[in-house]
Amino acid sequence: MIKISPSILACDFAKMGEEIAKVEKFSDYLHVDVMDGIFVPNISFGMPVIKSIRKVTDIFFDVHLMIDRPERYIEEFASLGSDLITIHYESTENPAEVLKKIRALGKKAGISVKPGTDYSVLLPLLPLCDLVLVMTVEPGFGGQKFMHAMMPKVKALREAIEAGGYDVEVEVDGGIGAETAAIAAEAGANVLVAGSSVFGASDVEKAIAEMREAAEKAYKY
Ligand code: DX5
Ligand code: ZN
Repeated sequence: MIKISPSILACDFAKMGEEIAKVEKFSDYLHVDVMDGIFVPNISFGMPVIKSIRKVTDIFFDVHLMIDRPERYIEEFASLGSDLITIHYESTENPAEVLKKIRALGKKAGISVKPGTDYSVLLPLLPLCDLVLVMTVEPGFGGQKFMHAMMPKVKALREAIEAGGYDVEVEVDGGIGAETAAIAAEAGANVLVAGSSVFGASDVEKAIAEMREAAEKAYKY
């Protein structure tokens, strides 16, 4: 099943509540990008913002931590009402331990790789996670161009998940609109993060519906 996760990085921060209300009825998850200026060369927002928006919506929070040594803050992100916490493979010395910690707190655990990281590093972690996130841009900024070269990575992970019988979702993030959603879904992605193509659209409902429809058609798993 295809899931759409609009990234609030692309919304108008002066009216986050309204922006979330605009997308939540049509979306499955809400993608929350946390950046620390160290793991990635940009700073977005952190705990106080998540705490505030948690009060205005019940939507599933898909929290993407682009921060160095995320193990320092897992308890806090869990207690703020994250539903899924995704960490980066490259951000910590012991990703397996961090995934276990997330699950022990009753949350879903995700693991992500930057474009330059080989998918094979994630294979031993599949039993420890609920989602793998393949970045289709260099993390740090919204509005970048989708990297087609990441599709073999999506396919290899989806095939390993199917072959191993794991219950793990495959998410893509960066440069997703209706056209690239179909390409990623065909490769095996079922969770589609979209920032600018959703919040930049004049008709949000239509933008999400078109993306979902294109992806549903292409997804074969
Ligand atoms: C990039 C973030 C993305 C970003 C996607 O580091 O992880 O979630 O918001 O933005 P678009 O959809 O505009 O590429
Ligand atoms: Zn993201």
